[in-house]
Amino acid sequence: MRFDYAGTSVFVAGGTSGINLGIADAFAEAGAKVAVMSRNAERVNGAVQELSKHGGKVLGLQGDVRDFTQVRTAMEAAKEAHGAFGVLVSGAAGNFLCPALDLSPNGFKAVVDIDLLGTFHVMRAGFDFARRPGASFINISAPQSISPAPMQVHVCAAKAGLDQVMRVLALEWGEHGVRVNSIMPGPIEGTGGLSRLLTETERPQFESRVPLRRVGQKDDVANMALFLGSPLASYITGALIPVDGGVSLLGGRNYAGTPQPTPRA
Ligand code: HXC
Ligand code: NAP
Repeated sequence: MRFDYAGTSVFVAGGTSGINLGIADAFAEAGAKVAVMSRNAERVNGAVQELSKHGGKVLGLQGDVRDFTQVRTAMEAAKEAHGAFGVLVSGAAGNFLCPALDLSPNGFKAVVDIDLLGTFHVMRAGFDFARRPGASFINISAPQSISPAPMQVHVCAAKAGLDQVMRVLALEWGEHGVRVNSIMPGPIEGTGGLSRLLTETERPQFESRVPLRRVGQKDDVANMALFLGSPLASYITGALIPVDGGVSLLGGRNYAGTPQPTPRA
């Protein structure tokens, strides 16, 4: 085991799939008591089943980050069961490719509400349920926060906004002993995000452009979360940390191959 999180209460918003579930899994493996929250009951139950294999305390909660009351209610239950949060992760997000001229105001709002407003909800509610001093708050950003990417005006705006939320909260909450940082994953294997951006056919060409010549693994991101939650990171706050194989150096236009709009569900 690389880190010892025995006794630590960890809450992961959007932690029932993909990268965020990978983060929850890493903390559970390291001995933490883990609570995950998302909208879909089936996904919540599946995540609880998966996380339980490590033998620790696991709690699955249904909730939508767009609704502040639902976030608070889930967090109250998690604190009651596991204690004040030592680590809080805000990872819920939505994404689809759509040119700005075809994007309705409601489509723009849908993503901003999940990624940006949702992150404020998670951070703000989380402050009341966190260990103070000592908690580590982690937002999940994306390269789109610094690199404008075609067909993603909604995602670029939302992720840039949540990075500024992170910086302001780091300024304001340092005195309470709460650190706030963002991880910026690159394209990560086997996730909803990657499948929306890249077809399997495009992948080899894309990987040849990544400075480290591969897409990332969920563990690459989870390892950074384990580090940020630990005393090794006790002097780090307000940082946007790429875990992207160098992809953010490429600029958004080169991020994907030939992006196609995502068909509506
Ligand atoms: C254009 C679309 C659209 C699409 C939805 N809309 N899909 N517009 N192209 N493909 C529009 C709808 O028409 C509607 O506007 C508005 O968006 C809201 O749609 P709903 O379906 O009602 O929204 P909702 O049920 O809230 O779902 C939100 C969602 C959905 C974002 C659209 O995809 C979702 O829940 N996603 C969560 C999972 C996810 O996206 N994971 C990827 C994370 S990866 P109108 O005007 O018609 O009412 C990531 C990026 C990382 O974030 C980068 C990767 C490398
Ligand atoms: P994913 O597999 O699609 O998972 C998204 C998670 O968020 C699901 O658990 C989903 O569960 C939950 N969620 C979505 N909307 C929610 C809402 N309104 N309230 C609560 N939970 C909600 O995503 P992913 O691709 O792994 O991405 C995870 C994070 O990494 C995101 O922040 C994304 O922007 C970022 N990222 C991903 C990549 C990548 O390559 N995939 C790259 C860069 C950044 P429910 O549907 O049950 O709600």
